[in-house]
Amino acid sequence: MSKLLITGGAGFIGSNFIHYWLNNHPDDQIVNYDKLTYSGNLENLKDVESNKNYSFTRGDIADAKKISKALEGIDTVINFAAESHVDRSILDPAPFILTNVVGTQVLLDAARDAKVKRFHHISTDEVFGALQLDSKEKFTETTPYNPRSPYAASKAASDHLVRAYFHTYGLPVTISNCANNFGPYHYPEKLIPLAITNILEGKKVPVYGDGLYVREWLYVEDHCSGIEKVLEKGKVGETYLIGIDMDLPNIEIITKIIKLLGASDDLIEYVKDRPGHDRRYAIDAAKIKKELGWKPRYDFDEALALTVKWYQNHQDWWQKLKNKNYEDYYKKQYIIR
Ligand code: NAD
Ligand code: DAU
Repeated sequence: MSKLLITGGAGFIGSNFIHYWLNNHPDDQIVNYDKLTYSGNLENLKDVESNKNYSFTRGDIADAKKISKALEGIDTVINFAAESHVDRSILDPAPFILTNVVGTQVLLDAARDAKVKRFHHISTDEVFGALQLDSKEKFTETTPYNPRSPYAASKAASDHLVRAYFHTYGLPVTISNCANNFGPYHYPEKLIPLAITNILEGKKVPVYGDGLYVREWLYVEDHCSGIEKVLEKGKVGETYLIGIDMDLPNIEIITKIIKLLGASDDLIEYVKDRPGHDRRYAIDAAKIKKELGWKPRYDFDEALALTVKWYQNHQDWWQKLKNKNYEDYYKKQYIIR
């Protein structure tokens, strides 16, 4: 039996991971440690609240005293906590440095003091920068870091810190860098949930620039099973890239969603581009497949249909999130530019 501390467990991927882990490892204990920023939502975990193997502590990973207390008796830390949205990092980089860089360093120190058996850090393919549209190149574990947004730079810094704690202090770390995720409980500021919920409300879907920016999309449950494989079979000190070997231009993703919802292409609205917009991301997931035997379970189209259904069936969940704070952000991001 293990006792896991999940930081950022009230967010999109963290809450999916908690569901996944409690279903597949019912004897393990989970402590969810989350600051509950705008994207942290305990509604995501309503159905596990009464599980005796689950508990929640509200706290900041940059709060040394609180995180040390939360780490008592913990053997495995999985660090999902982060400021995660590129556009918000462009509007205001400071919180990204405080949580993603300083917070990770404080958490690493506390994990070292607590002598945890494993510190797994959740990272992103954005640390590698942008690929050319017309190339077949993909990111691998040896691609040099070249972050190009404040968000990506803060995640790159956190990855470097995690590796430094392995080399300098012998902290037993692993890192996974994943492609774009989608699925249930995805906060409606990111492309897929924004498109689905806007269409359901009869609103336009904003497409940055020419709409030909390419992303690789992995169903969140497959990300969770990838993390599980790294925890169970991964080698300490190693990094694993998690992806599905598919990539599509944004406009094609939006067209697919419009079709699934039986809506009209008139809802597509081209808007001003994201500054420094990375043209293409694509992952070569050969290492995790070959060395750890992981493979994704879901095909993209099947998972997109499941996701659209989920948002149709959970309108209460996302309508509450599209509140005054969300509207203020939306105006700043899309209208007053
Ligand atoms: P999210 O924004 O939905 O959730 C982040 C969670 O972290 C929230 O619950 C928030 O309250 C919490 N948090 C923020 N600052 C905190 C702090 N200082 N202390 C404690 N908790 C704090 O993000 P997500 O999409 O679930 O991303 C989770 C992790 O996965 C991040 O590290 C992100 O960089 C990484 N990642 C995300 C994707 C993606 O497509 N969403 C892909 C690859 C990697
Ligand atoms: O690649 C992994 C990363 O994926 C994670 O590290 C980030 O946390 C996560 O937010 C995501 O970053 P992206 O910037 O790729 O995701 P986002 O959903 O914000 O945008 C996807 C693409 O869609 C990107 O090319 C920008 C574009 N876009 C996005 C929004 C929100 C639009 O065209 N219109 C929009 O309104």
